[in-house]
Amino acid sequence: MKALLLAGGMGSRLLPLTGQYPKPMAPVGNRPWLEHLITQLRDQGFREIVIALKHYPELVRGYFGSGRKWEVSIDYTLEKEALGTAGAIKHAESKLGNSFIVLNADVVQELDLKPLVDFHAGHGQAVTIGLTEVEDPSQFGVVELAEGQRIVRFVEKPRKEEAPSRLINAGIYVMNKEALQLIPAGREVSIEREVFPKLIRTGMGVYGYQLKGYWLDMGTRARYRQVHWDVLDRKLPIPIYGEEIRPGVWVGRQCRISPRATIVPPVLIGDKVRIEDGVTIGPYSVIGNGCIIKEQAELSETILWEGCRVESGAQLHQCVFGTGAEAGPNYALYEAVVNRMTEAVSL
Ligand code: GTP
Repeated sequence: MKALLLAGGMGSRLLPLTGQYPKPMAPVGNRPWLEHLITQLRDQGFREIVIALKHYPELVRGYFGSGRKWEVSIDYTLEKEALGTAGAIKHAESKLGNSFIVLNADVVQELDLKPLVDFHAGHGQAVTIGLTEVEDPSQFGVVELAEGQRIVRFVEKPRKEEAPSRLINAGIYVMNKEALQLIPAGREVSIEREVFPKLIRTGMGVYGYQLKGYWLDMGTRARYRQVHWDVLDRKLPIPIYGEEIRPGVWVGRQCRISPRATIVPPVLIGDKVRIEDGVTIGPYSVIGNGCIIKEQAELSETILWEGCRVESGAQLHQCVFGTGAEAGPNYALYEAVVNRMTEAVSL
């Protein structure tokens, strides 16, 4: 079965980080999330992947190419105008088989997808929506299920006590091609707001299947940081690239870390990182490849992408720095999201 990854959204809630990046390429534990996702899909037997692109397609294509390095075959679609979550699927129609799986590529998850695919094959109807259970459904679209797991309605952002369930759309679907008949071509169409309700109204079967395992939509700054805390706590068990030199401290290759620096776990440090005397890092910090942290700087709960520079005495707490961003000497930044807009990006 082919997997279609929707990776063409604006990522406006993650600006300015997404000012130069497609959101699914944002690093998680120093590797683009999309790379983790492709590896997971491969390990679950999905070896034919289509990626639906719109913003900064060259960054995705340049990184993954044909997919050979990851032992998968990757094809791409490119939208001239953003077509939305359903329009992007319709646009990819000619590249998909009779049934296929669709994943929002910005959903960070570690889920076993086989039971979802089996469940879909078992009922044979138009769509199965992967569902995930959340503590507070009031920020989400909640589903109401009838017998046999058939979805009878969606309730958008219900008050907690009025929600028909705590199950929400996980942004993962198995679909049959016939469902695409209901998606108008050539304009922006939302799958959640337009297509699923229409499928239910027209009596085409829409089923829900609860997925078990880690799930988090990394679309906001707070959730993007949360994903990293979960990697460091190993609640999200994706591979960590680095050697665990002591419990909760992972370090990449060719780093120069002063013995007079203090590393408070959990911390992940990438390759070729320089950390000078008197620096304190951690807890809950991820330092990208090639970063330089100058003397006496202090970082906590902070994520630096590649090639960042933190000058002497700077203090960063709960910050996210995009590729190549800098903090000047003695800067004190709290919850700042900083991106360097002028230089070419690399991943
Ligand atoms: P915000 O602007 O912050 O809402 O983010 P977004 O639009 O990128 O994400 P949203 O959660 O709305 O979209 C869910 C998934 O669908 C993400 O993986 C997006 O990359 C993808 N997506 C959204 N709109 C489009 C689109 O028009 N085309 C394609 N190809 N993918 C899309």
